[in-house]
Formats: sequence, structure tokens, C-alpha cells
Amino acid sequence: MAETTKNMSAPVIRVKDLYKIYRVGETKVRALNGVDFEIYKGEFVAIVGTSGSGKSTLLNMLAGLEKPTKGQIIIGKTHMEKLTEKQLVAFRREKVGFIFQSYNLLNTMNAIENVALPLSFRGVSKKDRLKKAREFMSLVGVADQEKHMPNQMSGGQQQRVGIARALVVNPQIIFADEPTGNLDSKTTMEVLRLMQRIVREQQQTLVMVTHDNHLASYADRRIRIVDGKITGIETGGRSALEETDKTAPEAQQPAQMEDITV
Ligand SMILES: Nc1ncnc2c1ncn2[C@@H]1O[C@H](COP(=O)(O)OP(=O)(O)OP(=O)(O)O)[C@@H](O)[C@H]1O
Ligand SMILES: [Mg+2]
Repeated sequence: MAETTKNMSAPVIRVKDLYKIYRVGETKVRALNGVDFEIYKGEFVAIVGTSGSGKSTLLNMLAGLEKPTKGQIIIGKTHMEKLTEKQLVAFRREKVGFIFQSYNLLNTMNAIENVALPLSFRGVSKKDRLKKAREFMSLVGVADQEKHMPNQMSGGQQQRVGIARALVVNPQIIFADEPTGNLDSKTTMEVLRLMQRIVREQQQTLVMVTHDNHLASYADRRIRIVDGKITGIETGGRSALEETDKTAPEAQQPAQMEDITV
């Protein structure tokens, strides 16, 4: 759980009056319909909602993959909505890590080359790239998969490689869109535990999108979204690190509802 001291520091992400309206033929889809919230350094925040509620739209805008129709996204001191395409590309490469549901590994590269790839955009030498990539593959428990091509690994192994690739540049913020959506429940818990441990150890901020309430219960805070609007923000999360696989969810402390907005 985030300590109160974290909440007294300046937010790392500020979202103000955010709208994303898609035009489909004659109709307008309000994917985000006026969203405000803040996320603090070192927090693990889940954005929770049903299919079509606007979760991916929101995450893609936070990560600089899409531009808002209206409103502000301030990351650190940077106004994302004011950046040019070129600046957004630089921002994505330098400041954030992204973990996808479908892993998104390059099929023509083996595991270690995939992990090392983000470092090549930074002009790191090949020797140092491979060294760093090897470190992170060890950290996420796939050191023995270096030479494997993506289609020679299980889903869980591919997702670990995807996590190593997101972490290798030591990003301040990690965005994850349904990172365990394609994994079984045991591997899901392993991946969750891994993400929770690493962001804590490295004081990074993790923003995870999910439709799964059980998974979301491990976040420090849950931002609930319905039809492009926030309906509530809950505080208090379980630690996947202290739980064994046998721990029944019912035995845990229920999360507290703190405030309801909109
Ligand atoms: N490029 C687009 N063009 C038009 N409409 C879009 C586009 N992208 C998303 N939408 C619409 O915006 C709404 C929110 O979509 P979004 O992908 O953010 O939902 P989601 O919460 O991530 O859902 P899921 O859990 O199924 O991934 C949906 O109604 C969707 O149809
Ligand atoms: Mg989505």
C-alpha cells in the first residue's frame, strides 16, 4: 500500500478534464468523457472497468500513443497534449515502459535481442545492451530463454520477456494494458508478484488496466471507469508478495471505499 508520505509528494501524473471523442461515420463515441485524477510516484494504480469503458484509450493517452480531444495530461512537468509527434516518440522511448496483453515481441528477434532493443534507440553499445538485457532477463526469471524466438516460448515466458523489455531502460512509469489477459491464473499471480516487487524495489510507478477485480485488488489504488467517466477511486491493496498461492481472497481485508467522484 502507498504510504501517506507518497501522497504528500508532487504527483507524477496529473489528468485534468480529459476527453477523447472518436468520430465513426455520423456518430461520435465519447471514449473519455471528462476525466480527472492524479497518480503519485511509487504507486501501483489499477484502472478498472468493463469492456468498452475507455481503459485502453486512457492508458494510450497517458503513454503518449494517442492525443486527447480536450484536456490536459501532465507527466512530471511535461504537458503531453502540447507535444509534437516527434517529441511524443522521444518521450515514449525515454520515459515510459509499456507492457501489452499480446506481449508484442518482434518475431524475427530472439528473447535477448527483444529485451535489448529499446537500448539501441539510446545509442548504447551492443556489448552494454546485451549485458543490461541479460540482467533484466535474470531479474524476471527467463535467463535461460536468451536464444529462444518468441514462438519457442510459453505465454508466461513471453510476457516476462515483455516485462524485461519494458524495464530495461529504467522508465519512471510503466503502463500495462491487461498484462495477464492471456495467462492462466497461476502464471497471472506470478507475473503480478513480479511487477509489484520490481516497481517497489526500483521506486517506479505502475499503471495497470484491467477488467479483473481480483487482479485490481492488488493495486494501491483502483480508479473505476464506466462509459468514459470515473465513478470512484478506492484505496488499499493486497500484497501479492506476501501471499502464497493457497491464500483465499475471502481471507483478505476488504478494500475501503474512500471517495466517489462524478
Ligand atoms: N479508434 C477508435 N475509433 C472509434 N472508436 C473507438 C476507437 N478506439 C476505441 N473506440 C471506442 O471507444 C470506447 C472505449 O474503447 P477502449 O478500447 O478504450 O475500451 P476498453 O475499456 O479498453 O475495452 P476492452 O476491455 O474491451 O479492451 C469503445 O466504445 C470503443 O468502441
Ligand atoms: Mg482495452
